[in-house]
Amino acid sequence: MTKLVYLHEPGVLCNLARRYGFNEIYTYTGRILIAVNPFAKLPHLYDMHMMEQYKGVQFGELSPHVFAVTDASYRAMVSEDRSQSILVSGESGAGKTETTKLIMRYLTFVGGRSTGDIRSVEQQVLESNPLLEAFGNARTVRNDNSSRFGKFVEIQFDKSGRISGAAVRTYLLERSRVVQISESERNYHCFYQLCASEQDADKYKLAHPRNFNYLNQSHTYELEGVNEAEEYLKTRRAMDIVGISFSHQEAIFRTVAAILHLGNIEFSPGKEFDSSAIKDEKSKFHLQMAADLLMVDGSLLLSTLCYRTIKTPEGNIVKAVDSSAAAISRDALAKTVYAQLFDWLVDNINMSIGQDMESRALIGVLDIYGFECFKYNSFEQLCINFANEKLQQHFNKHVFKMEQEEYKTEEINWSYIEFVDNQDILDLIEKKPIGIVSLLDEACMLGKSTHETFAMKLFQNFKAHPRLEKPKLSKTDFALSHFAGKACSMTSISCKTCLEFHCF
Ligand SMILES: Nc1ncnc2c1ncn2[C@@H]1O[C@H](COP(=O)(O)OP(=O)(O)OP(=O)(O)O)[C@@H](O)[C@H]1O
Ligand SMILES: [Mg+2]
Repeated sequence: MTKLVYLHEPGVLCNLARRYGFNEIYTYTGRILIAVNPFAKLPHLYDMHMMEQYKGVQFGELSPHVFAVTDASYRAMVSEDRSQSILVSGESGAGKTETTKLIMRYLTFVGGRSTGDIRSVEQQVLESNPLLEAFGNARTVRNDNSSRFGKFVEIQFDKSGRISGAAVRTYLLERSRVVQISESERNYHCFYQLCASEQDADKYKLAHPRNFNYLNQSHTYELEGVNEAEEYLKTRRAMDIVGISFSHQEAIFRTVAAILHLGNIEFSPGKEFDSSAIKDEKSKFHLQMAADLLMVDGSLLLSTLCYRTIKTPEGNIVKAVDSSAAAISRDALAKTVYAQLFDWLVDNINMSIGQDMESRALIGVLDIYGFECFKYNSFEQLCINFANEKLQQHFNKHVFKMEQEEYKTEEINWSYIEFVDNQDILDLIEKKPIGIVSLLDEACMLGKSTHETFAMKLFQNFKAHPRLEKPKLSKTDFALSHFAGKACSMTSISCKTCLEFHCF
């Protein structure tokens, strides 16, 4: 890119397209690697021979490659004795997760011990990927294997530059997907894998996904070229390698099955006004299954869903809820159980792999999920987009602000590159005491808040804020103009996120 005569957007895009035409999917712009998703298997790009080639070679000497960036980061860690991090960003389906896996594979190649031990730290680190993907990835309209969580993998190295431990930190798992999926999308892969698992599916009284409310909303069950029964065995194998005990594995899948049964519990109006009862025999069966699998009392589970306990200074008041509120409680329980299961799985992976408290330095790899803008955006999208705004700010700081500082100290006269500083939207969201999150906190504490009052409060506090807009036909929505510019072209695209407050 730096060799282009005219460095402008059409030139950059043309260069990328021409290179892509020759299967040159990687390009550098300075020290930033641009990868264009090939959507095809290119094994020759990633085989052992390729890894050997890039090992220890000066950055920029060979063709641009993800191994070159990883090698540079590893060498910098060894020679400067400083931790490094690699940030992988891009829109959904761009190839972040695949790239992250390649980075991890290269690091296990240069920092591995080559013992051939299937339970080595390196192998455990690599196998944590399919495991996390089974529970945290799903089909979306953009990607059959879309990560619905963010992940920061820390690979720790000892004094001799060998991998000595690892830790996985995850962020913002999309909880709403457990109970609600849009047309042509799917729920998390693990549900379909378990349904296809034959013996285990029988054991937990599961059947084809079309029989479960949490899976049949989108009428999409299969993934092209994927055999779910085989994937189930792969997930089990990954669990073995990572070091998750058999009894824990059983507990994990028991919980997954319980969630599916939970989703099939339906309610009808109860005898009294504003009360609810279990709908029919089918629902009773699923209630009992869910209770048995979760090892709780069935009738207690039912009354927990159909009644609400309100704490008052005079004591607890138990109040019946109507059937739609009971269904909301059921879904809240399913989402919470799944999110806890996911966090527990991550903790277990970390415990099994083990941390090296005395590690010399580490290389962190960040694979978060990109900016999102759907027809309806909930609190989850607000959080994801906020995280992306933060990353954008970080990127701006590093690449532009620091570069400008360097030019200033060297007294080089140059016309400053313009970049859009997104501090104003960060302030709008996070500033204390008045920002969207603080106002939301306040609204949640006041018992009388409604979607309307919250939206009103926002518009009162941020009158004529350039980033905040009130959609014409709604009293509860608000629109945020995010910064979602692409790093390579530095264009700033304003994308509006209407937040449906209902989802809070
Ligand atoms: N380097 C690559 N070689 C071959 N195929 C690739 C490569 N990178 C990505 N792909 C293909 O693109 C698909 C999507 O990639 P990936 O899941 O990594 O996207 P992502 O950026 O992580 O998206 P999301 O934000 O939705 O998680 C992969 O399943 C794979 O088929
Ligand atoms: Mg991904």
